Formats: sequence, structure tokens, C-alpha cells
Amino acid sequence: MATRLDLLPIGVTRVAQSRISGVDLSNVPFSSVWSDHVFVAEYRNNAWTNARIQPFAELALLPSVSALQYGLSVFEGLKAHKTNDGSLLLFRPTENARRLQRSAARLAMTAPPESLFLAGLRELVTTDRAWIPPVDQGALYIRPVLFSTDPSVGVKPADRLQFLIFTFPFNAYYTAPVNVIVNENYVRAFPGGTGDIKACGNYAAALLADQHARAAGYQSTMWLDAKERRFVEECGVMNVFFVIAGEVYTPALTGTILPGVTRDSVIRLLRDAGHVVREERVAIADVVRAHQHGSLTECFGTGTAATVSHIGSIRYRDTLIELPPVERRTVGAAVRSQLVSLMTGANADAYGWVERIR
Ligand code: COI
Repeated sequence: MATRLDLLPIGVTRVAQSRISGVDLSNVPFSSVWSDHVFVAEYRNNAWTNARIQPFAELALLPSVSALQYGLSVFEGLKAHKTNDGSLLLFRPTENARRLQRSAARLAMTAPPESLFLAGLRELVTTDRAWIPPVDQGALYIRPVLFSTDPSVGVKPADRLQFLIFTFPFNAYYTAPVNVIVNENYVRAFPGGTGDIKACGNYAAALLADQHARAAGYQSTMWLDAKERRFVEECGVMNVFFVIAGEVYTPALTGTILPGVTRDSVIRLLRDAGHVVREERVAIADVVRAHQHGSLTECFGTGTAATVSHIGSIRYRDTLIELPPVERRTVGAAVRSQLVSLMTGANADAYGWVERIR
């Protein structure tokens, strides 16, 4: 089986005419244009087959596919950068291939093997290398998606799946510190649920709280735990970090937190830079107390799209926590810069995280 999968050939059909002319790669908002091609593979009769690169275009799907009926869909997010010497760099892509496996398993789906995920990814990014923004002006966002094409309204694990990878250039997800409000009415995840995987439904279920946050004048939601509504879990679509009395705190991976690749990288970089990083439960009351005592000096979120993004303020009930100005925040800014230097090849990679392709 493994041999057969390893040998799956990837056919390439290129666009007749690229859509890139007229796209200003130094000014592309997130999710505003799509690169020319998409990687596609199909799962049927217990095997992955028909791997190919083709022009990015609408899909033909039966209305009954269970991705649409029951949300059998999981995804990933990673980035490619271009270096000054024209090489393409991927950041920890194997971690994404493995997380997709875990996400798929939780929804009783079969993920593409790591070898297929990585081969498709490399081929696609190489094909659309012209879409990667210039050095220091952003990245190519890569979105792998796995969903059921099983045309069954019966509630059952999928027999047929499609795996896609598409990409788009962007400069920044957030361009300014993010103001957030703690939501006590809705939860993002609960023990035994799907909060620790990238199920598409997790993001759908978060949208109403996000809408409420925006209506109240904030950009995003800070999520609390489902049982006690006491402990901070995540912030919008990001993992969250606090700097309190010189030490860094981030919620422990208790099963309701997404094990972010950026989160993991940031923890490692911070520890190697000599910071104490505590992965433990963080009570919102302790965050408020730290703010009142003047010991809360930073809060930032991490994620593929967001990289490391400062939180500007946190509203919790009647308390508005205004974080110090960004110029005074050394921990988040330094780790962001270190991470970006690794991702873009400006700094040597002592971690084996960066994969250089062609
Ligand atoms: C990512 O950062 O890649 C994410 O998955 C968040 C996304 C919903 C923009």
C-alpha cells in the first residue's frame, strides 16, 4: 500500500494564461486573490488516486455529498516564502501533514498519506512560485482541505474523499493590534469535542461570537473553557500567550486547544532565548489581577496566518485591559522577528524546521 501511494504520479495541467498580471504582490489583503493552480487527489475504493495539478476553478459536486450535509471537512494552513536567492521555503510542512491525519481520524475520514500531502504541496508551490510575494512583503498562504465527496445522506463515515491544496499571496492577516472581548455565552471547544483539530465546523461555530464581538466594537473573541468559563483557551483563530511578571504563560494542550505549529515554534524559540514559558491553565481572573498590579506586560496570539500578533486590549465584563503600547513589548516582537527570520531564510535554521524546495 505504502509503495503504491509513494509512487502516485502527479499529472500537471497548466493554465493557458496566468492571472497574475495586474496583481500587486506587495499589496494583497488576505484571501483576496487565488493563485493559478490547485492540487487535487481523490480517495475511492480504499485508495488515493488521480493526483493532479489543474487550473484553480469551480468544483463539480453532487448536492448530496456529506461534506455539505454533515460537515465532513478538515483543513490545514501553512506558508511558503521566497528568499533573496529565489529559493522557496516551506515551514514545518510535515507537522501540517500529521495534524491533517489527526483531524481526519477524529471525523472518521482517511487522510492522504504524508508522502502524498508533501509531494502535492511541493509540486503546487513550485508551479505557482510566481505568486509568492517578494522577500519581507508577506507569504504564500497554503490551504490543504480534505472533505467527503461521498454522495450519501446516510450518516456514516465517508467512502469517497477529495483532497485539495490551493494557495494565495497575502501581506498580513492583522495590520494593527487586535482588540478582543471575552465571550462567556458561547464556547469554541469542549472536552471530548473537536477543539484540538482543524475541523471546518469549529470555525463555523465560532462565527456568531465573532459577529457579536464586531458589533460591540472589537475585532475578535477571547474564548474561555466550556465547563467553568474561567480559563482562557484561545483568541479568535489564534493560540494565546500572556507575559506576566516576566514569565510567559500559554494555555496547556488539554484537548480543547489547537496544537498550533506556530504555538509550538514560539514556545521553543522563547525557551531557547531564556524565557520561562509555562504551559498551564490561565484563569481570566488572574489576567485581570495581573493587569491591576501592573505585571501584565504583553498578550499576543500565534497562528499561521497571524504569525505573532499583538493583542491591543481585552474586554472582560466591566474591565477593559489596555495592554502597554507595542513599542514597550519586547517578548512578542522579538519572537516574531526571530520566527520570520527563520521562515524567510534570513537566519540560519538550527531547528531543521525549514524545507527548501528548488
Ligand atoms: C491559520 O492561521 O492558518 C488558520 O487556520 C486561521 C485561519 C482560519 C485564517
